[in-house]
Amino acid sequence: MTNLQAEKITELVERRENAALGGGLKRIEAQHAKGKMTARERLAALLDEGSFEEYDMFKQHRCTNFGMEKSKIDGDGVVAGCGTIDGRLVYVYAQDFTVSGGSLSETQAQKICKVQDLAMRVGAPCIALNDSGGARIQEGVCALAGYGEIFQRNILASGVVPQISGIFGPCAGGAVYSPALTDFNIMVQDSSYMFLTGPAVVKSVTGETVSQEELGGARVHSFKSGVAHFAAASEAEGLETIKRLLSFLPSSNREAAPFKETSDPAGRIDDSLNELIPDNPNKAYDMYKVIGSIVDDGEFLEVHRNWAKNIIVGFAHMNGRSVGVVANQPSVLAGVLDINASRKAARFVRFCDAFNIPLVTLVDVPGFLCGTQQEYGGIITNGAKLLYAYGEATVPKVTVTLRKSYGGAHIVMSCKQLRGDINYAWPSANIAVMGADGAVEILYGKELKAETDPAKQSALRQEKKDEYDALFCNPYNAASYGYIDDVIEPRNTRFRVCRALEQLAGKKQDNPVRKHDNLPL
Ligand code: HXC
Repeated sequence: MTNLQAEKITELVERRENAALGGGLKRIEAQHAKGKMTARERLAALLDEGSFEEYDMFKQHRCTNFGMEKSKIDGDGVVAGCGTIDGRLVYVYAQDFTVSGGSLSETQAQKICKVQDLAMRVGAPCIALNDSGGARIQEGVCALAGYGEIFQRNILASGVVPQISGIFGPCAGGAVYSPALTDFNIMVQDSSYMFLTGPAVVKSVTGETVSQEELGGARVHSFKSGVAHFAAASEAEGLETIKRLLSFLPSSNREAAPFKETSDPAGRIDDSLNELIPDNPNKAYDMYKVIGSIVDDGEFLEVHRNWAKNIIVGFAHMNGRSVGVVANQPSVLAGVLDINASRKAARFVRFCDAFNIPLVTLVDVPGFLCGTQQEYGGIITNGAKLLYAYGEATVPKVTVTLRKSYGGAHIVMSCKQLRGDINYAWPSANIAVMGADGAVEILYGKELKAETDPAKQSALRQEKKDEYDALFCNPYNAASYGYIDDVIEPRNTRFRVCRALEQLAGKKQDNPVRKHDNLPL
C-alpha cells in the first residue's frame, strides 16, 4: 500500500471513530448517568453480532439558522442501517440523544426515510428506536416536513412489512405519530415517555400540574391509554421483547410466519382441562390456563398485557406455526366485551390477518358491556371494529367456545357466519341470545310478577330457566344447525386445534376488490 492510500484509510478509520462518538464522550456519559444506553449500544444489543451495516454515517445537516452551521455532527443524531436478528434481515434506526437531543432535522428524516424505503423494497421489518426531543426547532418547517415524510412511509408500509417502535427516551410532540402508526410500541419504565405536549405546556393551557411520568410514562400508556403494547422494566428487556416479537412474525406480507421446531407433541392431551370449567356459570376461571395448556411449550407472548385485561391477545406457536390467540378472560369483568377490549382485539386481529398469521379464538363471553358510560364512549362503533376485523380476516380462523357465547358478542368472536373456518365447542358451551337469568325475566316477567307467593314465584322462575337451559345452554343446539363443527373434549383441545390449523394451511380466500375498506373508526 502506498503512503497516500494508507493515509486515506487512516482518515476513514478516524472519521468512523469520530462519527461513532455522536455528540461526544461527555454527552455519552450523561446518557449513561440517566441509566440509558446510547443509540449504538442499543443497536449492538438488538442485532446479531457484527451484522450491522450502517448507512449515512457521515451525513450532516445543512441548516444555517441560529448559527447551526457551526455545530455539524456526522450522522446528525440518528444511526441508521440494517442488520440481522436471529439471522433474519431487519432495517433499523436509532435516534442519538447525544446529538441535539436526537431532535429530528430534515437530514435525519432523510436517513430514516432511506431505511424505510429499503425495508419496503426488500420486504423486511423496520424497527425504530426513538429517543428524541422531537422536531429540531432550529429547522422549523423543514423538520416538520421530515416528520411528514416519515409518517407517509409508515402509512404505506402498514400491513406490508412489520413496523416496530421502541420508545427509549422522550417522544414528544407530533413525533408520537410515527410510533402510533406502527404495529407495536415498546416503552421502558421510568425512562421513556410519549405525549403530544409536555407538562409545561399542559400547565399553561389547562392549569393542570402533572409530571412527565404521570402524563405519558410507560405505566400510563400500558395500563390506561393502550398506546404502548409492551412495557419493559429496562432497555435490555425492551430490546429482548422486540427480538421475541419478531420471532413470531413474517418479514413481510409476502411470506408466511417463520416455523419454529418444537418437541411438544401436537397430540398432547391435558386432562386438567376437563375439570377447568366451574359448575357454577357465574364462577370465574383463568383463561391463561387454557392458553398455556394448548400452545407449544406453554410459551405465549402477550400483547397489551396490562390494558383491557378482560380480553387476552398475543402470539404463540401451535405445532410450530405462529398463531395469534384472542381469548376472553372470565376472571376480569367476567370477560365482557367493552370499548377497550374491542379496540385491543380488533387491532390485533387486523395485524395477524395482514401478516398471514392464523387466528385461534377462545370464547367465554357474557356479552357486550351495557350502560351510559359505554354508550357515550361509542361501544357501538368500537364493538363494530372487532366485528369488522374478524369478518374481513381471510387467514385461517379456528374458534373454540368454552362456555358462554351470548348475543352480539357470540357473533363478534369469530362465529361461523364471519367466515370462521372451524368452530369447536366444549360440552360446557352455552350459545344463546343471552343467559337463562336475563331471558326468563324478559320472556316470563309478567307471569313471574303475577305470582305473589315468593316460593311459587321462585319455583316458576327455576322451571322456566331449566326449560331455557335445556334448549339453548349447551353446544348441541348450535351444532344441530352446523354453526359448531364439532363438540370436543376439553383435554383434546391442543390436538384438535393443531390438526385444524394443519388442514387449513392451504386456505385461500379473497375479499372484494376495492380501493380500501371503510372500517368503523
Ligand atoms: C433542537 C433540542 C430539541 C429540539 C432537545 N434539544 N430538544 N434541540 N430541537 N426539539 C437539545 C437541547 O437544546 C439540548 O442541547 C440537548 O438537546 C439535550 O436537551 P436537554 O433539554 O438538555 O435534555 P433533557 O433535560 O434530558 O430534556 C429532554 C427533553 C427537552 C425533555 C426532550 O429537551 C425538551 O423538552 N425538548 C423539547 C421537547 C418538545 O417540546 N418537542 C416538541 C417539538 S415540536 P444542548 O446543546 O443545550 O445540550 C414537534 C412537532 C413535531 O416535535 C410535529 C410532527 C408532525
